Amino acid sequence: MDVAIEAEGLRKRYRGHEALRGIDLSVPAGTVLGVLGPNGAGKTTAVRVLTTLLAADGGRARVAGFDVAEQPAEVRRRIGLTGQYAAVDELLTGRENLTLIGRLHRLGRKGAKAKAAELLDRFDLTEAGDRPSHTYSGGMRRRLDLAASLLSEPQVIFLDEPTTGLDPASRIALWGMVRAQVERGVTVLLTTQYLEEADQLADRIAVIEAGRVIAEGAPAELKRTVGGERLEVSTVDPAQLGLAAETLAKVVPEDRVVVEENEGRVTIPLTDGVRDIAAAAAALEAAGVEVQDFSVRRPSLDDVFLSLTGRSDRSEAATDPTTTEPVQERTAV
Ligand SMILES: Nc1ncnc2c1ncn2[C@@H]1O[C@H](COP(=O)(O)OP(=O)(O)OP(=O)(O)O)[C@@H](O)[C@H]1O
Ligand SMILES: [Mg+2]
Repeated sequence: MDVAIEAEGLRKRYRGHEALRGIDLSVPAGTVLGVLGPNGAGKTTAVRVLTTLLAADGGRARVAGFDVAEQPAEVRRRIGLTGQYAAVDELLTGRENLTLIGRLHRLGRKGAKAKAAELLDRFDLTEAGDRPSHTYSGGMRRRLDLAASLLSEPQVIFLDEPTTGLDPASRIALWGMVRAQVERGVTVLLTTQYLEEADQLADRIAVIEAGRVIAEGAPAELKRTVGGERLEVSTVDPAQLGLAAETLAKVVPEDRVVVEENEGRVTIPLTDGVRDIAAAAAALEAAGVEVQDFSVRRPSLDDVFLSLTGRSDRSEAATDPTTTEPVQERTAV
C-alpha cells in the first residue's frame, strides 16, 4: 500500500448546502497530510466520509487499500479517529474507557487491560486513570481521546482538530505523540485551524475552502508561492531609517527597497541569500547606521492562507487565538 488515503472527486450535499464540491486527496503511506481551512470549509465532512461515518454523494475514496463505500468494515478495522469533539464516556474513568474500547476491538479482557495501562502511561494519564473522565481538563480529555484512537494500532489515523483548545505545552506534547506514530509508519490526516501546527507536523498541506482543495503542496512550496525571504532592518534612532534605506539601495536595486515607516523598518528581498545579508550588514556598518533589529523573515503559512483565501479579517482567518499578530517565522542572523 503506497497510497494510504486516496480521494477522487468527493461530493457531499446537506439539504441544499454543498459541503464538499469535488475533493481530491492522495496521502502516501507513512506521511502526514495537514488539511487546513476556515470554519465551514468541509474538513470535518471530509473526515467523516473518509472514516465511513458518512456516505458521500459522489466521487470515491480508498483508505488503507479499501473502498470506504464498498468495504467500510475493512476500512474501520485499520483506522483510528479522534473527532473534533471528544468521544469518551464521561462517567467512566480513563482506564475504563480505554479498556472498554480495547474489548470492542477484541483485544480480550487481559489484552485490553494491559493496552489501556500502556496507553495511560504513554499519554501521561496514569495518575488520573482511575478518576471519572468528566473530572479531566480539556487537554487530558484530548489525550485520552487520542489514546483511545490508538488502541487498535491503526495504520491510518484521522485527527480532526486534535489540539483545538489545548494550552501550548499540551499542544507540543500532542505533536510529539503524533510524530511518534508517524515514526512507526502510521499515516496521519490531520485537520487544523493552526497554521503553525500544519507547518510543524505535515509533510504536505491541502488548503480547502468552500468544499474544494484550493492549494496543495509541501509547507515550503506553499510559502514560496507568496514570495521569497526578506531582510528586515530597524534602526535604534527612527531618524536613521532613511539612511538605512539609502544604504540598502547599494545592495539591491533601489526600487526593491521597501520602507515601512509605521513599523519603523526597511526591508529588502534576499535574492542572493547569505551574500546579500553580509553585504547589507557591512554597508550599514560602514554608513554608521545603528541597527536595532536585523532579521530574515520567511513567508509564513499565515501569509499563504491569507493570500489564497483573500481573507484579511484576522478574526475569521485561521490563526492561533492566543496571538493577535500573524505568526511570523523569524530567523535572527
Ligand atoms: N449535519 C449537517 N447538516 C447540514 N449542514 C451541515 C451539517 N454538517 C455540516 N454542515 C455544513 O457543511 C459545511 C461544512 O461543515 P464542516 O463541519 O465539514 O466544516 P469544517 O471545515 O469542519 O468547519 P470547522 O472548522 O468549523 O470545524 C458547513 O457549511 C456546515 O454548516
Ligand atoms: Mg470541523
